[in-house]
Amino acid sequence: MLKLPGLIDPHVHFREPGATHKEDWNTGTSAALAGGFTMVLAMPNTTPPIFDAETLNLALTAAKQKARCDYGQYVGAGPDNAVVGTDGRPLLHEIAHRTAGLKMYLDMTYGELRLDDMTLWAPHFQNWPKEMPLVVHSESRSMAAAILFAAIYDRSVHIAHISLKEEVLLIKAAKEKGIKVTCEVCPHHLFLTSAAPIFEENGGGLGRGRMEVRPRLATQKDLDTLWKNLDVIDCFATDHAPHTIEEKDSDNPPPGFPGLESALPLLLTAVDLRRLTLDDLIHKMHINPKKIFHLPDQPETWIEVDEDATYEIKASEQFTRCGWTPFEGWKVKGKVRKVVLRGETAFEDGKILVEAGYGKNIRK
Ligand code: NCD
Ligand code: ZN
Ligand code: ZN
Repeated sequence: MLKLPGLIDPHVHFREPGATHKEDWNTGTSAALAGGFTMVLAMPNTTPPIFDAETLNLALTAAKQKARCDYGQYVGAGPDNAVVGTDGRPLLHEIAHRTAGLKMYLDMTYGELRLDDMTLWAPHFQNWPKEMPLVVHSESRSMAAAILFAAIYDRSVHIAHISLKEEVLLIKAAKEKGIKVTCEVCPHHLFLTSAAPIFEENGGGLGRGRMEVRPRLATQKDLDTLWKNLDVIDCFATDHAPHTIEEKDSDNPPPGFPGLESALPLLLTAVDLRRLTLDDLIHKMHINPKKIFHLPDQPETWIEVDEDATYEIKASEQFTRCGWTPFEGWKVKGKVRKVVLRGETAFEDGKILVEAGYGKNIRK
């Protein structure tokens, strides 16, 4: 049995408020525990989006009642919420310390929170407290622009879900110049390419809707370059983005994959194949996210993994409400047996053992 620290996922979507038929704080945090995660940071592209005190309270109230693991909630950068208020202070300052960080959507993705125009970026880079995390969804050239903004305003920026060769190489160069940039990569961008025959082979629906994800799945060359530059990548994040099978197989499929319950087994299988070390995994799933996002200690918290258990990933065994996984039928090695969170056994042999509401907000 392998004992690891509680894993931290800095990028999940729980759909509450607004779309709890896809996921809610209860099913999302149950999926987290089953996947070995004891702390998750939730994105703000809900309905309504989380962008001010009132909407932040909506999400935090639901989380307080329903979360089973520890959590933080991001706030979203909108076109006018960085504007200076009547007392001279930027509006988001009032709530910054209660959030996981600020999320800026600089490219097209799921939800309404997009900042089209670079004049809307500047006030956020300028005003968001420097000691608080700032995360961007940015792809390709907008990622280069985001790194330039971080350099100009002399602050840190964390790039979500990188997927391309050009992205990892640029981040490497920016780090070498001393720019305060960090990044994460998702398992699906390390294991799946746009060719992805696996979707058809495993009954992945008639259309190509299940493949839709932002950033899109990339080429084998991109994937190889990510693996070759793992030292540039600070964190593994799931970007757990549940949408139901019906929605994925519809004429207008929303982008996103569930990921909380498949990430650790996929990555442990890669450790078994010597594609990365266990030490890499612990850094990218616990030590680095803890440091980058200024997360608190979780005393008496660990997970126990049977590193020799081999099995197939099956959507029917998952806690996520979305009912599917892009890794259906994949053979993996390494199974989470037990999760201990703050002294309580929270998960053991397939069962969630802590109540809804046991999870704590990491910013209080
Ligand atoms: C995410 C979602 O569904 O909320 N979708 C996705 O394809 N990754 C949004 C996002 O992370 O960009
Ligand atoms: Zn995104
Ligand atoms: Zn996301």
